[in-house]
Amino acid sequence: MSQKILVIDGDPARGLGYRQTLSAVGHDVRTCDDPAAAIREAVAGGFDVILLGQTSSQCNTLEILRQVKAARVPANVLIVSGDAAVEAAVALMKEGTADYLRDPCSAEELRAALQRMEKRSQPAADRRAMEEDAWRPHDFQGMLGKCPAMRDVFSLIRRIAPSDSTVLVTGESGTGKEMVVRAIHRLSRRRGFSLLACDCTALAPTLLESELFGHVKGSFSGAIATKQGLFEIAHHGTLFLDEVANLSQETQGKLLRVLETRRVRKVGDTVEHEVDIRLVAATNRSLVEMVKVGAFRADLYYRLNVVPMSLPPLRERAEDIPLLTAAFLEHFSRELGVTGQGFSPEALRQLDIYPWPGNVRELRNIVERLAVLYGGSRIELHHLPAELRTARAAGAPAPVPLAWEELKRLKREIVDDLERRFLVEALDRCGQNITQAAEEVGMQRTNFHALLRRHGLKTESKPNER
Ligand SMILES: Nc1ncnc2c1ncn2[C@@H]1O[C@H](COP(=O)(O)OP(=O)(O)OP(=O)(O)O)[C@@H](O)[C@H]1O
Ligand SMILES: [Mg+2]
Repeated sequence: MSQKILVIDGDPARGLGYRQTLSAVGHDVRTCDDPAAAIREAVAGGFDVILLGQTSSQCNTLEILRQVKAARVPANVLIVSGDAAVEAAVALMKEGTADYLRDPCSAEELRAALQRMEKRSQPAADRRAMEEDAWRPHDFQGMLGKCPAMRDVFSLIRRIAPSDSTVLVTGESGTGKEMVVRAIHRLSRRRGFSLLACDCTALAPTLLESELFGHVKGSFSGAIATKQGLFEIAHHGTLFLDEVANLSQETQGKLLRVLETRRVRKVGDTVEHEVDIRLVAATNRSLVEMVKVGAFRADLYYRLNVVPMSLPPLRERAEDIPLLTAAFLEHFSRELGVTGQGFSPEALRQLDIYPWPGNVRELRNIVERLAVLYGGSRIELHHLPAELRTARAAGAPAPVPLAWEELKRLKREIVDDLERRFLVEALDRCGQNITQAAEEVGMQRTNFHALLRRHGLKTESKPNER
């Protein structure tokens, strides 16, 4: 795979040599022969590998390595040196700090070292996640889905996560936009740095600007101390702008400037700071429509919409409903310490018909409620909340009014269900002793016994029972 490599070598001719060797196999290589400028570039980020060749005596290899590591630059470092002291020092450093090749090295050795680094830099967590994905093919980074639209989303995340491209995630409320953003960050080379989220609806425009860009002390009443903005704090990481459609026109302009220059100026400040962040934005509104009516800047829209990712509403991915329902039921049953018995086919059919305006979030909340109320028993149609139970499939005839006989039957079903649970639980508490159980619940033994018989439950007495 192509890697973005910064070559630092005091000799421009040797730097060019590295560049030719590595570009020939598809890497994107940049060279720098001035150590101070090279450190600035390395710290600004954006590279997968920093190749440290021979450097001038004023700023030696180990000093550059130290500064790069102190700035927590998320790149692998490959040192190519003929200096035995450098080799020894690198060997003494903590494992994984840098790789070492003895100079002169062949083009083959160089390429092999880069390949090794690429393999190793894939963190154990990713490997584990991939192994788990293989076992649970419909679970991608905790996101469940097997319909073609979700599989496309998972594959797009896999492809774009390692890049720095800005992503615009769209989808109705509760479709999993935030989960997507977290997966992108987790699978990116920025995973070792922060993922910071900012809800663009939550704050008034001036406060939002101070939140995003920071402010200097005294820049407005209430600015009692200088504050770093999220752009600065998220340096090297990912910044998530949630509900981006709600930005005011003025803030949109300021955001566009930052995205174009990659520099941020605190409110009330005169100097700008370079920032290295990956921006991911999300919205449940149509930015295209907002652009048409002049409510959102077209230029900012194009800056954000570099990689568009659209999440389907749950009603359009009905094949995922049984999968999500079963997973949520298992999760909440485990939390409650009960064994989930699943949904009856009638109940499942109704989940399929319901239009799910709140999408996966709504499904999850309903399953949680059902698990709390009826966990341990099979979830039947009459257990479902009214809005779900009464939902009708498109084109289905209006329901026949509930007849008296039908009402009596439903009532009986519900009462039977409760009575059965009442009996089983009483017997369980009293070690299956009928006399004790009847006494404990305040019933005549004969009545208790008759009820047991009616439900076809255990009716024979133990030898010590009368
Ligand atoms: N594919 C999925 N698999 C499992 N859980 C999901 C999935 N999609 C969403 N969820 C769950 O649904 C809930 C809502 O997800 P999330 O917060 O990512 O939605 P959102 O699109 O950001 O919603 P909003 O627009 O309201 O902010 C979360 O509890 C999340 O765990
Ligand atoms: Mg959200």
